[in-house]
Amino acid sequence: MSIDMRSAFHREAFKIHNADRVVAQAPDALSSLSKDSSWLSLREFRLSSQTRANRGIVAGNKSDPACVAFDLLRTKVMQTLKQNGWRSVAITSPMPRCGKSLVAVNLALSLAELEGTRTVLLDMDLRNPGLARLLEMDASPSMEFFLRGECDVADVLRLCGRNLAVGANLWSARLASEILQGEAAATALKAMVQDLRADVVLYDMTSMLTHDDVLAFLPNVDCAILVAAAEQSTFAEIDACERMLAERTNVLGVVLNRCRHGAVC
Ligand SMILES: Nc1ncnc2c1ncn2[C@@H]1O[C@H](COP(=O)(O)OP(=O)(O)OP(=O)(O)O)[C@@H](O)[C@H]1O
Ligand SMILES: [Mg+2]
Repeated sequence: MSIDMRSAFHREAFKIHNADRVVAQAPDALSSLSKDSSWLSLREFRLSSQTRANRGIVAGNKSDPACVAFDLLRTKVMQTLKQNGWRSVAITSPMPRCGKSLVAVNLALSLAELEGTRTVLLDMDLRNPGLARLLEMDASPSMEFFLRGECDVADVLRLCGRNLAVGANLWSARLASEILQGEAAATALKAMVQDLRADVVLYDMTSMLTHDDVLAFLPNVDCAILVAAAEQSTFAEIDACERMLAERTNVLGVVLNRCRHGAVC
């Protein structure tokens, strides 16, 4: 299978903007996976090798150069999160179809290989949820119910292996931006992180230049990754998004997806 996936890091890779926004120190040791009823009580979901192959999920396949690119991304992200005491990462792009969901899944699976690190991946693209389709998962209640505080975290999350929990979604929400900036969503997500003792939370989001959803949600995250598509995203789009993000959060970096030339890290 040939996948033209490379991750490259645009300009000053992983430059930390707005460093003065850091409010907490990194926990010394990541929480152990000892007895923890909330995490262990999540229902399991098995990601089949066929789904991996069909959908371009390369994380874990160490002989694939694209997997190496995701491991590099994972380690850079993890180091930056730890150094700054950050945990939550929004993954967005300038326009649709840049590869946000595929990058989010591969990054989550690569993070999940880190022993003692709990990663949560949530579908926050309430208009066009993509994770359930990509992972061939059945999702129970809609993410909207969870964000409105109307259902429990165990209803929306599935455990995929020991270290990764995935919250997929099958239903789009009419008032996506309004839900994402609501008090109920912030409360539900904070409680989720505490209950699960999550170390990293990845939010797969919608594109920035088509809706206000990402801007609405940014107060809930510590930092953001912008996924640009080579030969599709323009410099002006990337620049506009980086500026918008940098005014509101910490920009971890830009992942250049669908790059036909070698990875530049
Ligand atoms: N590097 C890549 N190589 C090959 N195909 C890719 C790559 N990245 C993404 N794709 C394909 O492009 C399509 C869009 O990818 P994906 O759904 O991840 O993008 P998205 O930005 O999340 O889209 P949306 O804006 O609709 O949520 C999918 O069919 C995916 O398999
Ligand atoms: Mg998507």
